[in-house]
Amino acid sequence: MRVPVSLTDRFGPGPAYADLLTACALEEGLLTSAEDLASRRFLARSVVPHIETLSRLFNRLDDATPGDQNYWRHASSHSKNLRLAYFLAFLPPNQFRMASVWNELHRLGFRFPEGMFPEGGFRAVELGAGPAAGASGIAAGEANGPLGLPARGEWQLVERDLAALKLGERWLSSFSSSQGLSWRAQGHHRRVELKDGFLPPAAPRFHLWISSFFLNELKEPSDRIAEALSACWERHLEDEGLAILVEPALQAQSRRLLEIRAALLKRWEDNEPKGRKAQGRARFQVLLPCLGHQACGALAKEDDWCHEQTEWWRPNYLRKLDELTGLDRRALPFSYLVVARTRRAPAELLPALGAWPSPSTYRLVSPSHAEGKDAEFYLCGQAGKRRARYRYEKEAGKPQRGDILLEAELVGAPEASRVQALSRIV
Ligand SMILES: C[S@@+](CC[C@H](N)C(=O)[O-])C[C@H]1O[C@@H](n2cnc3c(N)ncnc32)[C@H](O)[C@@H]1O
Repeated sequence: MRVPVSLTDRFGPGPAYADLLTACALEEGLLTSAEDLASRRFLARSVVPHIETLSRLFNRLDDATPGDQNYWRHASSHSKNLRLAYFLAFLPPNQFRMASVWNELHRLGFRFPEGMFPEGGFRAVELGAGPAAGASGIAAGEANGPLGLPARGEWQLVERDLAALKLGERWLSSFSSSQGLSWRAQGHHRRVELKDGFLPPAAPRFHLWISSFFLNELKEPSDRIAEALSACWERHLEDEGLAILVEPALQAQSRRLLEIRAALLKRWEDNEPKGRKAQGRARFQVLLPCLGHQACGALAKEDDWCHEQTEWWRPNYLRKLDELTGLDRRALPFSYLVVARTRRAPAELLPALGAWPSPSTYRLVSPSHAEGKDAEFYLCGQAGKRRARYRYEKEAGKPQRGDILLEAELVGAPEASRVQALSRIV
């Protein structure tokens, strides 16, 4: 996924972002001194063991899964240091992932329509917010490449752990104001139970509905989650609003998101009003990453999955933490889905793509490897996934994961195709 340097600069390697994190951690009582982050001894003793515990849990390396327990209150842990570990090591990557998704919408030309927001600003909700990685990622994305969100807005953060929620309220206010945005954060200490719906029926309609690394912690099967998402967006997502889901890149969790997409499409197709009744009505449109409502190319195979990757400059302290833990967060993989509730035509929503959906539009869904003068990669499009080679121009560089080929002419079998011509790579 291509992201501009101006976005990565908002996170590191300079000190400004780490200083903001430090100030917030000091105010929350998670650090006692601004020098702590520079101390290898402090990081190794107080932070690293918790990063290791959380990393094992999130990567499902033991029997436990994150949905089994409120891990913020892990009995054997010092909960303040565990919160600090999440805040320093997991929040920034997740925040950058969400900022990258926002940037993808920006680079493809998505803008909210004029007059969409009331005088008082926008309304948004983040589910399973923890320290508000998703909302603060949108603050970085919007400050860097605006989609037209007003500078004033109100975020509702929903989270089952009170201390994590308080941290999220504070972080979102301080980070968004550092980006020149007056965004207010209001926490709701609540455990989401799918049988009751994602939001209480009396909740208002929102312009933005997001979750980051949350759905994978729910126990219910993907079709139940899709049913609850669809019902919630039907009732609580404004016309021309967006829903953004960011999830892990792990095979099982990524496939779950693909299944959720498939179940959502099925529901919408079954319930879509036909003919004149449908004209001018807002409908749900998958915007990213799939560029259409076709059957998922990755789900076609039992062991396949689909994920993106974004790259950044880690803040300096995170580089140190990576050295101590053996983790490597230079590249940040993730899965995602962006849905719009809209009256607009696809070409108006993502104008950089021209007329889409189109059988000649493809997205790169793997890294590309050099094969002589060719680049080889997997593409996904209206007719599913295919392996392809492309003779690229040296000056332009190899196409990369996330790039989109427009008006591409492919010849050959799906396992060995060649891109013979294309009009543009975006
Ligand atoms: C992996 S964390 C992600 C936090 C944040 N969104 C991020 O991207 O860094 C998942 C969060 O969802 C919360 N959570 C899990 N199940 C929940 C539920 N049923 N209701 C409310 N919050 C829940 C957890 O407490 C945790 O804070």
